[in-house]
Amino acid sequence: MRLKDHVAVVTGGASGIGAAIATRFAREGARVALGDLDAAAAERRAAQIASASGDVRAWALDVTRRDDVERVAGEAEAALGPISIWVNCAGMSQIVPFLDCSEELWDRTLAVNLKGIFLCCQAAVRRMLPRRRGSIINLSSQSGKVGNSQFAAYCASKFGVIGLTQSLAVEVAPHGLRVNALCPGIVPTPMWDRQTADYARKRGIKPEEVRGYLLARIPMARVCGPEEVAAAALFLAGDDASYVTGQAINLTGGAVMH
Ligand SMILES: NC(=O)c1ccc[n+]([C@@H]2O[C@H](COP(=O)([O-])OP(=O)(O)OC[C@H]3O[C@@H](n4cnc5c(N)ncnc54)[C@H](O)[C@@H]3O)[C@@H](O)[C@H]2O)c1
Repeated sequence: MRLKDHVAVVTGGASGIGAAIATRFAREGARVALGDLDAAAAERRAAQIASASGDVRAWALDVTRRDDVERVAGEAEAALGPISIWVNCAGMSQIVPFLDCSEELWDRTLAVNLKGIFLCCQAAVRRMLPRRRGSIINLSSQSGKVGNSQFAAYCASKFGVIGLTQSLAVEVAPHGLRVNALCPGIVPTPMWDRQTADYARKRGIKPEEVRGYLLARIPMARVCGPEEVAAAALFLAGDDASYVTGQAINLTGGAVMH
């Protein structure tokens, strides 16, 4: 029970990496507030996790809206107690040739992936600062370390997450708060399922060839399990990482090393 006496908010917790983190944190004794744009999926996921272990509750949340973020933070604290961990997993991605990237897609990607984390970090820090206790974990990506074709909006957002993470980490370090980012490579989640056809088109291969194409470029020759991202999040959330802040940790099976 490494997170006993902790309250964790996990945005994007209904699906993929966020769901894996919420599951692991609940198993480690945290009370978890699971927020997601897809309210019905959040309710189902929270019930599913809570049936196995822990206290997990769902909130409808759009991370791009400050009023929503503040409402959920306030309601989560009223229901579960002071928030000590905040994990920003809500995100979106779309592979599209640069000249076909509409202004709307650019704005939406930056709003969800970067502004959403800004708003959530403000809600978290505002509450954690007076208590001098808190760990914030932001989902960046290997696409926050290395650019990739037809992925300009996503890469820009994920590079931005690392800049935000580093800047905030420096500012709040004297107040006892830690802020880190996780940079996974390929994690099989609904996000990847949705973009497999576009990835195949971009590479000029068939959708069924995508997996082999990707594995050939990963030194460990396998993808990253959502539970492996959750294990890294657990490390950053708890006291084992008490001297770790401002980091952007790769989970890429050796594909990215800087
Ligand atoms: N899957 C990967 O390979 C991979 C790799 C690196 C980084 N990431 C990042 O990890 C995070 C989680 O990705 P995933 O693969 O689990 O994706 P996913 O699509 O399975 O889950 C994302 C969740 O975010 C929610 N969401 C989207 N917009 C939202 C909003 N405005 N407000 C609140 N919730 C919103 C979705 O409803 C969904 O439940 C994302 O930030 C993603 O960019 C994923």
